Amino acid sequence: MTVLPTALDTNSPEYAANRGSMAEKLAELETEHAKALAGGGEKYVTRHRGRGKLPARERIELLVDPDTPFLELSPLAAWGSDCAVGASLVTGIGVVEGVECLITANDPTVRGGASNPWTLKKALRANEIAFANRLPVISLVESGGADLPSQKEIFIPGGALFRDLTRLSAAGIPTVAVVFGNSTAGGAYVPGMSDHTVMIKEQSKVFLGGPPLVKMATGEESDDESLGGAEMHARTSGLADHFAVDEHDAIRQARRIVARLNWRKAHTDPGPAEPPKYDEDELLGIVPGDLKAPFDPREVIARLVDGSDFDTFKPLYGPSLVTGWARLHGYPVGILANAQGVLFSEESQKAAQFIQLANQRDIPLLFLHNTTGYMVGKEYEQGGIIKHGAMMINAVANSKVPHLSVLMGASYGAGHYGMCGRAYDPRFLFAWPSSKSAVMGPQQLAGVLSIVARASAAAKGQPYDDEADAGLRALVEQQIEAESLPMFLSGRLYDDGVIDPRDTRTVLGMCLSAIHTAPVEGARGGFGVFRM
Ligand code: COA
Repeated sequence: MTVLPTALDTNSPEYAANRGSMAEKLAELETEHAKALAGGGEKYVTRHRGRGKLPARERIELLVDPDTPFLELSPLAAWGSDCAVGASLVTGIGVVEGVECLITANDPTVRGGASNPWTLKKALRANEIAFANRLPVISLVESGGADLPSQKEIFIPGGALFRDLTRLSAAGIPTVAVVFGNSTAGGAYVPGMSDHTVMIKEQSKVFLGGPPLVKMATGEESDDESLGGAEMHARTSGLADHFAVDEHDAIRQARRIVARLNWRKAHTDPGPAEPPKYDEDELLGIVPGDLKAPFDPREVIARLVDGSDFDTFKPLYGPSLVTGWARLHGYPVGILANAQGVLFSEESQKAAQFIQLANQRDIPLLFLHNTTGYMVGKEYEQGGIIKHGAMMINAVANSKVPHLSVLMGASYGAGHYGMCGRAYDPRFLFAWPSSKSAVMGPQQLAGVLSIVARASAAAKGQPYDDEADAGLRALVEQQIEAESLPMFLSGRLYDDGVIDPRDTRTVLGMCLSAIHTAPVEGARGGFGVFRM
């Protein structure tokens, strides 16, 4: 065994300070998560319950197997926008009749469950996850359709939702729609494009146009039930495959559908795994409040992987990036973790080689971010940092094994790309509350802007106002700092969630399990031209 040692002193003032800073950020995070859980607020939740209906999360809770966890994704979607935190949609991965499924549920307490641009982004991300990992999709539908005032942002791109459902079906990935209420206009295509549909007596309303629209269009007098009730769809139109008498019955029937899918994962479950040798709770005290101070990512790895057992690859070469092999909940993983923040040529080449090895061996990769980017300066440019960074980015971009990314600390510049940032399609990307991500640090960015402005004034022969410059720098720094924070980035769907560091092993284990529903196969060749 190659068990990682620890040098973490849990009695040191640094540890206490790091923990204090993380605790503060976790408390802020909890406040924001509570907003998503509150949905449309007490008034709308009470009204919803008063109608004998269950809230979205309770529907999910009844759908998944008893005592199994639900990995909620993008709970902070729409954070920092005018729309409600959570974007009127709950998405996540849960186990139904032993099958890991991608579950989505409209939250009808938020503007009638209508979809705004953030809802759309969140739903499309959920579909992407279902596709990449071959997870059956269960949609719990109750939505006012497009959020009408923002229709210009969603109508045209929103067609992708229905396209995805039928493409999932074409790829042999089952899709199930359970309609709890309104599912009109475009929304009608959710049951319309799903493989299996369940509708509920006197609750489901599935029509292209409701009674007022029909009256306007053709003059015909009609009512909800005859246009799109469950009874009509079950007996007459044939759109409903299953007729449920109430919400509990609908959920029971959805579970039976999944039980009969004959769904088999591509890989078998590796079974129980040895926990890490060190307490996961200590993950709270590793990342310093000030990200300029370095930390040893091996302390994190030691608290994430099975038995804290880690075989380092090339420990003496490019030491600012730790690479090595481990198992996480029994699944093999190759880990790339930033150590000193900066990526040099050696680190980049080592990463490219390591990624190729993982592809040859069909081993998923885990990227643990704490990087300020690739090294700049004459010596490094002359040493070929661009070609070497490009090698790493080439390897990441064309790698075919599943990637998982966790932003622990800094994730700046092209370092974010090389470490498999959002644009490089990691299967899942999570951020710790301590993380920050941007093109560069706020001070550096403000400083660069100031130098450029000063040079521009000099070129025009104009005087430079130093006082205004200081004010502007402070303002820019503030803005960039705010835009680098995980809640802001999560709000824009640039991650799949901000997680408590203590949950990292569990979250990654659930992701790895979901990932192994699809075959894990690395690229044998197929990389771009590596500049040597
Ligand atoms: N766009 C924007 N806001 C919407 C909306 C939509 N599609 N659907 C509902 N809302 C708003 C309502 O205006 C209301 O706001 P308020 O409480 O501030 O007044 C809030 O969401 C709740 O709606 P309400 O009608 O009170 O809820 P309900 O549960 O009784 O009915 C619906 C829900 C969805 C049946 C009903 O709101 C409706 O028919 N909406 C329009 C559906 C539609 O035709 N959409 C177009 C599809 S492309």
